Amino acid sequence: MLASVEENALVDSMKSFPLSVVNEWSTARNRSISNRGAQVAHDWGPSPDHPRAAKAFPARRPSRIMQRYAFTARDGKKVVFREPRSTDARALMDFINGFVGEDRSGLLIDKKTDIKAEKRWLKQRMREIKGRLTVMLLVECEGRVVGNCDVKRRMWKESHRAVFGIALSEEVRGKGIGEALIRKTIALAKQRMRGLEAIDLAVIDYNRRAKGLYSKVGFVKVARMPRAIKEDREYFDEDWMVMRL
Ligand SMILES: CC(C)(COP(=O)(O)OP(=O)(O)OC[C@H]1O[C@@H](n2cnc3c(N)ncnc32)[C@H](O)[C@@H]1OP(=O)(O)O)[C@@H](O)C(=O)NCCC(=O)NCCS
Repeated sequence: MLASVEENALVDSMKSFPLSVVNEWSTARNRSISNRGAQVAHDWGPSPDHPRAAKAFPARRPSRIMQRYAFTARDGKKVVFREPRSTDARALMDFINGFVGEDRSGLLIDKKTDIKAEKRWLKQRMREIKGRLTVMLLVECEGRVVGNCDVKRRMWKESHRAVFGIALSEEVRGKGIGEALIRKTIALAKQRMRGLEAIDLAVIDYNRRAKGLYSKVGFVKVARMPRAIKEDREYFDEDWMVMRL
């Protein structure tokens, strides 16, 4: 069961929000980067750093309340969905590197990352979160990061759309966590990203579980990209799916 937003926001408000993070997030402008974890559709939009992007994304007063929700999985496992902190780099690195080498992981990443790259990646993502260009919830279980889900807004003439990504470690799949995480992340995106009309994603053909879950929560297939992915010398098509908000 998910605890209420209000209840959690109260528990996890400023006192659990390190000042360093507040300071780090004070710049609303940031560089656009793709979610290397989840498989995403054509994330090649211009960077929010670009001077012309300022008009499309006027600076807003940053939200300083870090969201946090408790969730009990179908097997009784207790996890927490929460927004990232600047101290999460190592946990995130261990999490994402866990997919490298997994047979048909469903993700694009095929090379391990290191702590320097991960810190840089996290810093950029946190700036995006502060600028309301991205919402991101991690899944924490027994002190480890075991999941990540995000919605990243596109730029300029595509700014009514956002790209979606999700990934869970093998040990927590198939217990209802993915569905709850998607619903929470999208609810947060709707709350924070004014004017957002649609969320899209790309899913590799063999990923039946992801496709089943996406259809269940309201994504609809709109296109198919042939031979989009080359994995171990084998080509796979990709489905592009959209959720209208
Ligand atoms: C895809 C993923 C996010 C799904 O999360 P999950 O927690 O494993 O899925 P859930 O247990 O919440 O399943 C929810 C729904 O998905 C669908 N689903 C689950 N397994 C399925 C399967 N094998 N075939 C078809 N649909 C399936 C069902 O509709 C299910 O609802 P139900 O349990 O009420 O029947 C997770 O397995 C994962 O991270 N996999 C590896 C990375 C990945 O593939 N990311 C997506 C890249 S596009």
